Amino acid sequence: MNIIVGITGGIAAYKTPILIRLLRKAGHEVKCVATDHALEFVTPLTLETLSGNKLYADLFAPANENSTEHISFKDWGDALVVAPATANIIGKMASGIGDDALSTLLMAFMRKPIYLAPAMNTQMWECPAVQRNIEYLQGIGIHILQPECGELACGTSGAGRMPEPEQIMEQMTILSPTPDLRGQRILVTAGPTYERIDSVRFIGNYSSGKMGFALAEALAAHGAEVELVTGPTSLRCHHPNIHRTDIESAREMFAAATQHYPTCQAAILSAAVADYRPDHTADHKLKKQGDSGMTLNLVQNPDILATLGTMKQDGQKLIGFALETDNELANAQKKLEKKNLDYIVLNSLRDQGAGFGVDTNRVTIIARNGNSTTTPLLSKARVAEEIINHCL
Ligand code: PMT
Repeated sequence: MNIIVGITGGIAAYKTPILIRLLRKAGHEVKCVATDHALEFVTPLTLETLSGNKLYADLFAPANENSTEHISFKDWGDALVVAPATANIIGKMASGIGDDALSTLLMAFMRKPIYLAPAMNTQMWECPAVQRNIEYLQGIGIHILQPECGELACGTSGAGRMPEPEQIMEQMTILSPTPDLRGQRILVTAGPTYERIDSVRFIGNYSSGKMGFALAEALAAHGAEVELVTGPTSLRCHHPNIHRTDIESAREMFAAATQHYPTCQAAILSAAVADYRPDHTADHKLKKQGDSGMTLNLVQNPDILATLGTMKQDGQKLIGFALETDNELANAQKKLEKKNLDYIVLNSLRDQGAGFGVDTNRVTIIARNGNSTTTPLLSKARVAEEIINHCL
């Protein structure tokens, strides 16, 4: 494969030569494109020696082979990875600015796979403008390799560290989509459910859908056809192999999931489903009941996972999640057996940076034979890869 490595001006650029070396070792051709600021951190000689190709850094250099070098690079490359990607290049990409070799090439490359490995100080990463740009770029299909949490060059600690070159390679699913899931249909549930109380209120939970969407994207990148059944969320899917069904309540999720499972080879249920719903939904806004308070009668919702466990046929896999606050392992193991699962993915609410709403997660994947493995705190995209690698 022909891979273009873009380098921008961040201290993490010291790791980029290792990425280039790993790509070459894996049999890929590499060409490098650097910004002026990148060359403050890493020399042209290093990039040219390791890639085995001339560096492209100056739009107007007389030595360029073509007057439109960005277009010839675009035609040559199968994928482009920018590592590190600064807030500046992210902002330029999101705004359609092309004022140097890399930003101009990125504009021309939009229809091909682009991977960005952002690296910056935590506060810069969390800056609303940067997050808005990231969300926009994700929305148009750019792969964002979520920065890791840890010690940063500025001496602080937090999210913003560029993933290690090995991890960047792993997340560039175009390079090695194993396991190969082409020909498989996989059901994923995601997000919360809303159980209506009246025309304006509901019982819900804090699930954002991020874990389920990360699973759906990763499965699709591995070649699977994904049936994604999701509760209310503002997230969007990007891969054309993801077929999305939006539902609101547990009963609607039950209907969609039980309809799709018989045609699927596996199901991964990451949704946070309400166990109970009001026994009655008022068709108007309920009025205040005064000081005496108000009582809601709740009835139990169907258990989707347990039902799929009874439907499971030979050759089908069923993977559930468990969100626990105490006795985590024992409770998860009980759910695995009771619901006839092959694997259960345990989330403990005691783990900082894991679970509801955040971009990171830390899970323990427990197999039916009792084997288990615990991930470090990783981006949800990487946790999805871990789940796929262990369970499928
Ligand atoms: O969406 P995010 O913000 O990214 O957060 C991700 C997450 C924390 C929601 C996710 O990682 C997670 O832990 N999902 C499971 C949440 C949950 O409801 O766990 P549980 O232990 O209550 O349920 C066990 C399993 O049964 C789950 O697979 C659940 O989808 C399923 N279930 C539960 C109740 C029900 N009526 N039907 C079900 O299928």
